[in-house]
Amino acid sequence: MLNAVAIAQQNSLVDRHPRVLFSQISAKTLPSDQDLIERLNGRLAPIHLRQRLGIESDDQARVFGQGLKFFHLENWYSVHSLIRTSLRISLLLERGRRNARRIELRHNTVPISGLPDAFEGLKILHLSDLHIDMDGDFPQVLAERVQGIDYDICVMTGDYRYKTFGSCEAALKGLERLRSQLKDPIYAVLGNHDSLKMVPAMEDLGIRVLLNESVAINRGGAVLHLAGIDDPHYYRTDNLERTCDDIDRGNVSVLLAHSPEIYKQAAHAGFNLLLCGHTHGGQICLPGQWPIIYDAKCPRRMARGAWRYHDLQGYTSTGAGSSIVEVRINCPPEIAVHCLRHA
Ligand SMILES: [Fe+2]
Repeated sequence: MLNAVAIAQQNSLVDRHPRVLFSQISAKTLPSDQDLIERLNGRLAPIHLRQRLGIESDDQARVFGQGLKFFHLENWYSVHSLIRTSLRISLLLERGRRNARRIELRHNTVPISGLPDAFEGLKILHLSDLHIDMDGDFPQVLAERVQGIDYDICVMTGDYRYKTFGSCEAALKGLERLRSQLKDPIYAVLGNHDSLKMVPAMEDLGIRVLLNESVAINRGGAVLHLAGIDDPHYYRTDNLERTCDDIDRGNVSVLLAHSPEIYKQAAHAGFNLLLCGHTHGGQICLPGQWPIIYDAKCPRRMARGAWRYHDLQGYTSTGAGSSIVEVRINCPPEIAVHCLRHA
């Protein structure tokens, strides 16, 4: 049942800001702004909706400005062909393309003090930065890669689309293919390549998107809180305070975020574990897996793999897909399984 007061408030906000009504995103399979308001009624603060859609509409493909970093290489499309050409000349292009399809499966053990017995051994499949429409066959590559993996919960930490703007259809179709090989439950957050308008279609696939929200996972009388924030890197529409509203600090809590850049806030909010991606581990690295750039305002040690900050344990996935150019050099794509254990 829709909350008439909330809808009226949201309608009046959108009416005062008509520029958010017609974003430039392909609308073929996407909801109208009004449909989105009704679909997400009560889940998003009106200002969150207005900010997200407004920035999506204003700043598509901007190279400079917005976000935690001033410069956004992923939006500088003229440099993408320059990188591709450089790789071709150095005979690395084809090798890099082959590497981008060799997705490694990594296992990470997370010791947590106070973990209830019911969650001992819980396995979380972590997929990140799929950029699933980067190539026509990539959804199939991913769907085959996840087959047979043992896990209890699947989480996805953003960047489903290859580009930061334009049609979402290919990404949603790719997700549909991948989803057919994933078991429930599946939780996700949005990244800086994703549109808020993808949420209804993702949720119709059974992928619950956490928009500054949390869910309580119950097992054997114990509770684990799984929370997720909207993109903290570019859109900066994350709201940890709201996300923590329903979290009992006496329970173990896991935060999903697209980027590790939220690590300080997550640590001091009391989360036990932060699962994130965004950096791609550098994607094109020097020998020794040393990233040339990793596009995140955080310590280099948080650019890939497991790390700790105070009592917060973190894991930054190098991502399963690739962006800017569909290659990987000295930085394999990955999917990870995190196993929770008593400390
Ligand atoms: Fe990404």
